[in-house]
Amino acid sequence: MSFSYPILPEGHLLAIEGLEPPHIQALLDLAESYALLNRQGKTQRDLLRGRTLINLFFEDSTRTRTSFELAGKRLGADVINMSVSQSSVNKGETLLDTASTLNAMNTDILVVRHAQSGAPALLAQKVSAAVINAGDGTHEHPTQALLDALTIRRHKGDLHGLIVAICGDITHSRVARSNIHLLSAMGAEVRLIAPPTLLPTDVDRLGVTVFHDMRKGLAGADVVMMLRLQKERMSGGLVPSAREFFRFYGLDQEKLSFAKPDAIVMHPGPMNRGIEIDSAVADDPSRSVIGEQVEMGVAMRMAVLDVLARDLRRNA
Ligand code: NCD
Repeated sequence: MSFSYPILPEGHLLAIEGLEPPHIQALLDLAESYALLNRQGKTQRDLLRGRTLINLFFEDSTRTRTSFELAGKRLGADVINMSVSQSSVNKGETLLDTASTLNAMNTDILVVRHAQSGAPALLAQKVSAAVINAGDGTHEHPTQALLDALTIRRHKGDLHGLIVAICGDITHSRVARSNIHLLSAMGAEVRLIAPPTLLPTDVDRLGVTVFHDMRKGLAGADVVMMLRLQKERMSGGLVPSAREFFRFYGLDQEKLSFAKPDAIVMHPGPMNRGIEIDSAVADDPSRSVIGEQVEMGVAMRMAVLDVLARDLRRNA
């Protein structure tokens, strides 16, 4: 596939907000071709040969880090995982000192996860590498929204006109924020279902419809996207108890029956089973696409790395 324009502004992927629909479309199309190649067991080891990709994760991660590692390796990059617990960050080195160290090693692509919103954008200003935001605080997680869109498109076709219900802990969710921007840009109708305590204060500006009653919010939905209750980001008692939360906002077969009969169920992982989602739904192969989201994660990250590598070549 050839592109006559830069797909990612400034040669980084820091957020979905700011991307135009044709850019999103191009990334989805490219990822779809990687999904097919992956299923056929074909790798593309020339594209990033000789390039260095560093996974710089200041927060825990299983699937996102592994998925970037696999994507980088399938494209031939040298991949290094920097685990923060082993790094000098714990010895008091600042984010920017770490950045200049990595810069001096001629890193080509830096994948960053950080508890502070805006940390990847700050790094992008200071390093010569292309920076990918792998989740920053409660701000954005752009590759997750892209892989979610790819998964939805494979089941529902065009995103335009679909009803997508995003449910649970919206306030703390960078996944929700990125998905809201992407799905709205692509013409889907986004509904948020949450208790008032788990909705961000700027919800009015997001162009979504808000529901506090799960059955009403799920009525007629094509896609049901569940979110993890992020207890580690909560300072006070925003939910009464896990049991209470499950009763009102946990997805089980009964609540799911209000959505369209062919509605798909998604979750970015890791799941709190029995808190935001019942195992009977999460493990139902006729409704749950949670495993496919993980598979599409690798394809989507390959597409993002591919596009960034083209920019690196252009700027070389
Ligand atoms: C999400 C994250 O880290 O933002 N997980 C992920 O990337 N798969 C969601 C979460 O932690 O709940």
